[in-house]
Amino acid sequence: HQKQYLINGELKTWDGKTSEVYSTISSTDEYAPTLLGSIPDMEEKEALEALGAALKAFDKGKGAWPTMRVNERIECMELFVKKMQSKREEIVKLLMWEIGKSLPDSQKEFDRTVEYINDTIEDYKQLDRDAAKFEKNDGVYAHIRRGPLGVVLCLGPYNYPLNETFALLIPAIIMGNTTIFKPAKHGVLLITPLLEAFQSSFPKGVVNIVFGRGRAVAAPIMKTGKVDVLALIGNSKSANALQNQHPKSNRLRLVLGLEAKNPAIILPDADLDLTVDECIAGTLSFNGQRCTALKVIYVHEDIAEEFNKRFAKRVDALKFGNPWEEGVKLTPLPEPGKPAYIQELIDDAREKGARILNKKGGQHSENYIWPAILYPVNKDMRVYKEEQFGPVVPILTFKDIEEPLDDMAESNYGQQVSLFGKDVYAIAPLIDTLVNLVCRVNLNSSCQRGPDVYPFTGRKDSAQATLSVHDALRSFSVRTFVAFKDN
Ligand code: G3H
Repeated sequence: HQKQYLINGELKTWDGKTSEVYSTISSTDEYAPTLLGSIPDMEEKEALEALGAALKAFDKGKGAWPTMRVNERIECMELFVKKMQSKREEIVKLLMWEIGKSLPDSQKEFDRTVEYINDTIEDYKQLDRDAAKFEKNDGVYAHIRRGPLGVVLCLGPYNYPLNETFALLIPAIIMGNTTIFKPAKHGVLLITPLLEAFQSSFPKGVVNIVFGRGRAVAAPIMKTGKVDVLALIGNSKSANALQNQHPKSNRLRLVLGLEAKNPAIILPDADLDLTVDECIAGTLSFNGQRCTALKVIYVHEDIAEEFNKRFAKRVDALKFGNPWEEGVKLTPLPEPGKPAYIQELIDDAREKGARILNKKGGQHSENYIWPAILYPVNKDMRVYKEEQFGPVVPILTFKDIEEPLDDMAESNYGQQVSLFGKDVYAIAPLIDTLVNLVCRVNLNSSCQRGPDVYPFTGRKDSAQATLSVHDALRSFSVRTFVAFKDN
């Protein structure tokens, strides 16, 4: 079913141009990218067909889906999640091959997504129970509820092609919107086993799934001005480009999860064993390809030498291998150009005075570059300024806590921070400042998105709108009410 797509409730087989999907993982001992399949290379015509189907299904708010009773919509979603569960093995395998995610992490992504959908259903029921209540103020009764926004264009990222995509798509659908979804370039085939589940669980036109390049598919949809919500997790360049295509972009609701440069701040009294463990997980889980990854470390100068030594040693002891191998922590990078990009960051930092602290740092294989721990990093270096989204870790030292705080205030990003230290009297006032710079402060633990019931957002260029089971339902809807007088 690789060449199938879903428009207006019909599962069609594509007979036009296709794009081959390769894995950077070899299927033999010799290195060679593995051909996994091919996907439709759609153009404007199909994109507009999908938009037409979504508009028709919404039907200016009169459609069967936006007016459907809550329990019926829930039944559709329950059917979908049931069907999805039968595809676990196939999807986990594709996660490993397409994006190089380790077996335990791939299983976790699948299971976490199922849990996300089930929690969304429960939260939606609660929303409905709340809406059943009436309010009375100054003699005016109000029946307050939440209504859909219209047509949602949804684009997911390659690093969590299931979980983060569904964190947009599922709440958008359940709130009564109609959707067009285009998967990312990597992690695209794993959507195909779910096409039938989408088709048979929801009325026609509610979910339309198209494939192709963003410029060929998403841009023409935006240009029509008929999209009500742009839902995207990825980079701000793509988000801005798409937003600007919309002729009335001021009317467009944005639900965006974008870049971050989350810092770790290590205070002089930090427990170093715990801090090293958390910094390893924070910087290098899934090779650092997470928007929530720790992307810069600030360590107090008094403990820098000891921290650096322990951290660098631990990085070199990590196991690299194919995703299904026991105990692997570092896996092939899905983007063929990523090792060369990381190398550029390393070269730039070294030219400007940084050293690689770990012996294996920067060693290449065809589909990987060993994480390089760079120290001392300064603010002129590209690795400080850019969101590396890969295996390279910049370390800076500080004497006065104002230094990392000033950097965070000047940064274009503001998602999370990790703070390591023991003295509660030093930490408590710091938290009061940190929460004004980012949206989540992690004490003695690395940054992360989960559990998915917690708000996931960011300040500045890191996000627009809030995700999480609870908040996403609100991000994809608007409060409406019916009022009547007591007369
Ligand atoms: O890329 C960003 C993801 O939301 C990361 O999620 O922190 O749970 O790995 P995570």
